[in-house]
Amino acid sequence: MTTAVVSSLVLLPLVAGPAAAAGGHDGRPAGDRPLRQLAADDRLRVGTAVDMAALAQDAPYRRAVGSEFSSVTPENVMKWDALEPRRGEYDYAAADRLVRFARGSGQKVRGHVLVWHNQLPSWLTGGDFSATELREILRRHITETVRHFKGRVWHWDVVNEAFDEDGTLRDTLWLRALGPGYIADAFRWAHQADPRATLFYNDYNIAWAGPKSDAVLALVRTLRAEGVPVQGVGFQGHLGIQYGLPTGVAANFRRFERLGVRTAVTEADVRMILPADEEKLRTQAEGYRLLLDACLRTRHCVSFTVWGFTDKYSWVPGTFEGEGAANVLDESYTAKPAYRALQAALAGRARPRAVR
Ligand code: XIL
Repeated sequence: MTTAVVSSLVLLPLVAGPAAAAGGHDGRPAGDRPLRQLAADDRLRVGTAVDMAALAQDAPYRRAVGSEFSSVTPENVMKWDALEPRRGEYDYAAADRLVRFARGSGQKVRGHVLVWHNQLPSWLTGGDFSATELREILRRHITETVRHFKGRVWHWDVVNEAFDEDGTLRDTLWLRALGPGYIADAFRWAHQADPRATLFYNDYNIAWAGPKSDAVLALVRTLRAEGVPVQGVGFQGHLGIQYGLPTGVAANFRRFERLGVRTAVTEADVRMILPADEEKLRTQAEGYRLLLDACLRTRHCVSFTVWGFTDKYSWVPGTFEGEGAANVLDESYTAKPAYRALQAALAGRARPRAVR
């Protein structure tokens, strides 16, 4: 993004710096309130994914995580390859650091993720395990991990991305070996290990109605009818403006809530084909606003989490070639229109909500 675009649209540095000296005690102009303050008025947790290297090395990053957000999600350090790099040897150090940071900052932790097909250690993907062995490996991993963080993780993403776009179950290691029952098993094991954590199914491209979100809805309905402890559905919210913005998101969240589960936006980011320009940044802001609005207009949407908050550290350029600028602050922590849109949505919310 060019400097010209940023300065013509915005704004004051979000992180206190020389240009922000004018206002309140934290260096912000009066009325320019951090997201977590605005969201607290609405009993909504507003979160971010956290990159542990940035948290350790980059003081402005660390300050912004603490001041802007009331919940955090580890971007990578609670994934299987990080937690159990060698079979039976757990390494909780990095995840524990985040949990301590969260406690010190008055933040909740969204645990991410117990069952997924990505970021698995090679001993697991390359091991020639029988179905019985794999089931036991999965049970142990869930039990050990959830027990370790017991009482310190608010929400767990128990199962992530189990469906394909057409609504059929994704062909994964787990499905192949264990059949569709692995999903119910995972929720039961997690619940046993920490009965007070709220357990989520989490996926992308399910924020609007369509074959995939219909399939997740049907799954959750069936699981709940069988007494399986699934208590939330997480809508990742990875959007790209080149695909157009979704519609009907609040209505879609509501049909999940009618099943008795909480909802949450868990990984919002809105990418674009680079280079960014003013119009793309405006569309991006609409994308963020639309996701947050859906959450605010839905009675049991309990948290809104962005998948990183600065373009300085983003998974997008490394994953989607030629795309980027997906976050609400630019690389120098200056607020983009998307950040202002989140502030405005939180400040101007329409009606009281009944968050459980
Ligand atoms: C991504 C991380 O942001 C990257 O750093 C990592 O290399 C790959 O995973 N859906 C999810 C997240 O549930 O865990 C993914 O995070 C993004 C897509």
